[in-house]
Amino acid sequence: IKVTYVAQDGTRTNIDADEGDSVMHAAVSNDVDGIVGECGGSMMCATCHCYVDDAWAEKVGPRSAGEDDMLEGAASEVTERSRLSCQIKLTPELDGLVVHLPEEQF
Ligand code: FES
Repeated sequence: IKVTYVAQDGTRTNIDADEGDSVMHAAVSNDVDGIVGECGGSMMCATCHCYVDDAWAEKVGPRSAGEDDMLEGAASEVTERSRLSCQIKLTPELDGLVVHLPEEQF
């Protein structure tokens, strides 16, 4: 499942992730700068903050109330496209997904 991470400076990193993997874990295991995932995906940090690309927002769906709570502590601006990337599981429908990285995670 292809995922593209777009950094603030426009740098695009394309990776090929396994189905069922999370957008956070796929980034960390492929050394994508900009996603930290400090808590390992248990929704206890906000260092996996990302912005879902407009074109994908509908397919990815809205964030949960739990994500809302954690994002209150996010280092970068939270927008309506903000998600915790550990909570986005990759399915075949999300092949080609594009997410944008925040300026900072701490
Ligand atoms: Fe900590 Fe996503 S990795 S909330």
